[in-house]
Amino acid sequence: MTKDLSEHPLVQHYLTILRDHRTQASEFRRCCRGITGVIMVEAARSLQLDPVEVTTPLEVTQGARLCPGVVFVPILRAGLGMLDPAMNVIPNSSVGYIGLERDEVTAEASCYYAKMPDLSDSTQVFVLDPMLATGGSAAQCVEQIKAHGAKRVSMVCIIAAPEGVATFQEEHPDVPVVAGKIDRQLNDKKYILPGLGDFGDRLFNT
Ligand code: PRP
Ligand code: URA
Repeated sequence: MTKDLSEHPLVQHYLTILRDHRTQASEFRRCCRGITGVIMVEAARSLQLDPVEVTTPLEVTQGARLCPGVVFVPILRAGLGMLDPAMNVIPNSSVGYIGLERDEVTAEASCYYAKMPDLSDSTQVFVLDPMLATGGSAAQCVEQIKAHGAKRVSMVCIIAAPEGVATFQEEHPDVPVVAGKIDRQLNDKKYILPGLGDFGDRLFNT
């Protein structure tokens, strides 16, 4: 299942600033935080609830609390920009990290770091990566997360390419992709068009 949130006015607003080649790092970071909050609220629809009773000043009524066991896994580096705003949406969460870097020529991702908290079949994992291009980084990350025992995984992106989403979903049909926008296509260097360029470079001013 893929969700494209580009109809949302806030997504359109933040994405326009992120795409603009003139946008400087500080503004880029601010908009990354803003758009991630909106996308994360939508991704959070997959969360499970425990029913609880709550006493208002007037009476007792039925309420609900989030089940514990939410884990965020940002893909380094660029996914780090999404971590803080995602934790603002779901504060009671744990964090794992995975470092993946695309080869500049082949665009194939290789893993240079991984640190996961305990994961079980009831854990809800949200993988954070702003750009899903060929889908290789996302697929490798989810493979490792599943190998650690998680069964409930969602992919949270800011921009995805249709080719990458198709490849990713062939490998992981059980993992929903929630994206701010599914863009047009990849170019011959496997960059997303129209895209916003290299997210990590723009976020970290490198
Ligand atoms: C970017 C991006 C994704 C990946 C997407 O990371 O943040 O992780 O490329 O491409 P794919 O879908 O084709 O695998 P990059 O490898 O540039 O590393 P960085 O975040 O450290 O800049
Ligand atoms: N990674 C990026 O940062 N941008 C792209 O367009 C593709 C991969």
